[in-house]
Amino acid sequence: MTRDTDVHGTAGADDDQRPNARAEDVLPDGGSEERSSSNHSHGRTPREEAVDDVALDPWGSSAVSDYRKLFKQFGIEEFDALLPEVPDPHYLMRRGVIFGHRDYRPVLDAMRNDEPFAALSGFMPTGDPHIGHKLVFDELIWHQERGGDAYGLIADLEAHSARGLSWDEIDEHARDYLLSLLALGFDPEEGELYRQSANREVQDLAFELGAEANFSELQSIYGFDGETDVSHMQSVVTQMADILYPQLEEPKPTVIPVGPDQDPHVRLARDLAARTRYFGVTQAYASFEADPGERVLLARAHDALEDRENDGTVRCVDAAEWLEGTDVDDPTDALPSALEKLHAAGKEPLRPRTRFLDRNATDEAFEALIEAVEGEKRVYEAHIDSFELSREEAESLAREVEIDHGGYGFLAPSSIYHRFMTGLTGGKMSSSIPASHISLLDEPETGYEKVNSATTAGRETAELQRELGGEADECPVYELYAYLLAGDDDEFAKEVYDECVGGERLCGDCKEQAARLMEEFLAEHQEKREEAEGLLEELDFELDSRR
Ligand code: TRP
Repeated sequence: MTRDTDVHGTAGADDDQRPNARAEDVLPDGGSEERSSSNHSHGRTPREEAVDDVALDPWGSSAVSDYRKLFKQFGIEEFDALLPEVPDPHYLMRRGVIFGHRDYRPVLDAMRNDEPFAALSGFMPTGDPHIGHKLVFDELIWHQERGGDAYGLIADLEAHSARGLSWDEIDEHARDYLLSLLALGFDPEEGELYRQSANREVQDLAFELGAEANFSELQSIYGFDGETDVSHMQSVVTQMADILYPQLEEPKPTVIPVGPDQDPHVRLARDLAARTRYFGVTQAYASFEADPGERVLLARAHDALEDRENDGTVRCVDAAEWLEGTDVDDPTDALPSALEKLHAAGKEPLRPRTRFLDRNATDEAFEALIEAVEGEKRVYEAHIDSFELSREEAESLAREVEIDHGGYGFLAPSSIYHRFMTGLTGGKMSSSIPASHISLLDEPETGYEKVNSATTAGRETAELQRELGGEADECPVYELYAYLLAGDDDEFAKEVYDECVGGERLCGDCKEQAARLMEEFLAEHQEKREEAEGLLEELDFELDSRR
């Protein structure tokens, strides 16, 4: 076991992870679901420590003023870069509502190659499902329609422990989430719906994963402290198990569609997935271990010298001398340690190879892997070097042997992130401020009224609006069109936008139109919810909690 030294993720899926990294200077400008802190408080969240230094906090009041900062500071990747490769992308993708992802490519590749993949998300039943949740419902359904195994879960343990909801309240809201998810088109025959408390496999997996994380880590990721109750911590490992649950039967690319406030969970799940693995696979150049920065230097030296040495052998000392005499780019300041290692290795040949590291393997599994590596190889006490296998081949071989010997073989889970919706009254969209959001249970007329009295980003007078145009990009009502009301109709969304910024569309009429569309949407959605009632009763889902 390497756990004692490895607990902070040197085995992590992301080399550059910073679990408690903070986005500096992220001020709330609206656009988030409020996540009020609970009476089962976990104490000061990272967010509360400094007002202008904000973390992505799953239980805080997440608001993101500048989504681009999330790319730089947290390593979230831009969704737009992948968009051209997405088959028939969802309108939320096309319109940049889904703005970011972590490692979505494996899911995309599986989708395109008709290979297995999964999509899972969870909902805390703390109130009515609203139009912000609909984004996630739609994302799950979209992946399901493209052949993914889809999972929707009710995070009842989290709602109880982190938000202090009673079981009765939880049961009531859980029903409402499920009905809306079904009404929007989730196919429960193909997919799976469960509640955390009733899923024994999830509980068992949570327990196993809990053995790979410790309190200091939860403290640094979530700001937990001595006051945090243990059940809240248990809800974290439960979420880790939720995220990996689709892979229990068989490892497969899995996407978790969520808001960016959930990114700390995603990063931890990626780390835990890696920590359970029997073997790590890395690139190496000699018998010694090198970190990623050192590896870059070794590769440079190897490539430079390979042609010059006529018998094809590059010795470690020669590489050291070459590095000493060359001005190489060394952003991580890895040169001194690389040189030290190269000098110590002396005459040993520098030769690229694929390395299997024994992390959590049983002895039998390690032996089996030695057997399974074909071609030229070298076996060491805790690693095996192959001179013939590519990294990809090595990864899949390692996974195969792991699974054959009782391991999970988890792939690192992926995520996609959507923007938070702006509240109708400006500021944040909050479940606890009814006027700020539209509940999927709101009477169609109430929806109409709410939209009609929403704040807009229009100019002070109609005259100015005609002259300067409206600011659609800042407008909660335009957002309603883009996120929901225009549906799949890009042309309509663009028309609204162009007319607004061109000064032809005035706020009164625009809101009236949006209000009517909202009314229609709610009426139709609620009809479908009623139809879904029967479906829900037939499902194997514990609607009444056991307590
Ligand atoms: N923590 C999520 C929320 O605050 C709910 C959740 C629980 C979840 N398990 C999950 C989300 C797994 C995504 C994946 O709403």
